[in-house]
Amino acid sequence: VRTLDVALGERGYTISIAAGLFDDLGHHLALYSRDGSIIVVTDEGVWAALGERFQRARARSPIAMVPLILPAGEGSKSWAALSWLVDRLAEAGVERGGHIAALGGGMIGDLTGFASAIFKRGCGYVQVPTTLLAQVDSSVGGKTAINIDAGKNLVGAFHQPSAVLIDPTTLDSLPPRQLRAGYAEIVKYGLIQDRGFFDWCEANGASLIDGDMRARLHAIESCVGAKADIVAADERETRGRRALLNLGHTFGHALEAEAGYSDRLLHGEAVALGMALAFRFSAIRGLCPAEEAERVTAHLRSVGLPTMLRETEIAASGAQLAERMRHDKKSSGGRLRLILVRGIGEAFVDSSVEVAEVEAFLDRELG
Ligand SMILES: NC(=O)c1ccc[n+]([C@@H]2O[C@H](COP(=O)([O-])OP(=O)(O)OC[C@H]3O[C@@H](n4cnc5c(N)ncnc54)[C@H](O)[C@@H]3O)[C@@H](O)[C@H]2O)c1
Repeated sequence: VRTLDVALGERGYTISIAAGLFDDLGHHLALYSRDGSIIVVTDEGVWAALGERFQRARARSPIAMVPLILPAGEGSKSWAALSWLVDRLAEAGVERGGHIAALGGGMIGDLTGFASAIFKRGCGYVQVPTTLLAQVDSSVGGKTAINIDAGKNLVGAFHQPSAVLIDPTTLDSLPPRQLRAGYAEIVKYGLIQDRGFFDWCEANGASLIDGDMRARLHAIESCVGAKADIVAADERETRGRRALLNLGHTFGHALEAEAGYSDRLLHGEAVALGMALAFRFSAIRGLCPAEEAERVTAHLRSVGLPTMLRETEIAASGAQLAERMRHDKKSSGGRLRLILVRGIGEAFVDSSVEVAEVEAFLDRELG
């Protein structure tokens, strides 16, 4: 087992990464159970893919693992699902000092984390991520949320998990499109702060998506290691460093909202497109060489990720998208707070961008 620490003092925790860890899940979760049982929140997609393996793990578990299964999809990051979930936790008698587990992708992690942030003013939770996106990014860092009509992740809390348990073999059942979407968040780490890692992505991205376990392990360790450092330096995104992880996300969230948070555009796909837009916008503003933007677009495209607004089914105008970006929770005082780049590996926070400028850029991209 490879372990990494998130150094946050009393809120610190360990990330464990090992092939086969899932088969011993009960032993790992037993550390967090007080009464000999633990609720494992998951979704129907995870259950269809990993349910049998979970049952085998349950048979050899020293504690009772009780699954709670929600509908799959971004639609479950909702008030309705949250309300259902906290009612189940109350029925089960989960205590403030107790723990629950999140078994699934970023949707289950964000929803379960938020439920545990507010249930009895906060109980504990363990992240057991099963998508590439969750294993390289969302399971670490304690951002939890649901979506509301006005936008994505607009209701939530910072609430760190007590542990993160990553088994990369659970990715074997993940559909290729979901793997590609998760891969976008891997590339992000190269683009924001590590040019050498982007070179590695160019050389290994395709085989990672195809199933190369060594490449997957390397990417998981590199990304969660980078995220652990960033979170330890700026837990609540107040010092700017953590904000860099939002590269591509302000563009991306507007696109996801426009797509109705549906399968038309997965979160990771929106991030890929958003990162390509952030690079091209930076190039147009003279911040970044145009060749760098082209290189990023070419790599994302080579693994099958969307990079051009024109190629999506999103039929919004530049004004509509820019308006959505203005409502993103990172904007302030009517100006957009965008993550822009001086090149690959050199992201920075730019709070000076006028909405009109982005609107004109998006209209050109759409035209
Ligand atoms: N908290 C954070 O820091 C953070 C960071 C990035 C993204 N996110 C959030 O994460 C969410 C997206 O997460 P996601 O891409 O993991 O999507 P997801 O959780 O919706 O999972 C995608 C699909 O894969 C299925 N699935 C999960 N594991 C599987 C497996 N092993 N085999 C087969 N199918 C499996 C699920 O049932 C679902 O249908 C978004 O809501 C996004 O806002 C949060």
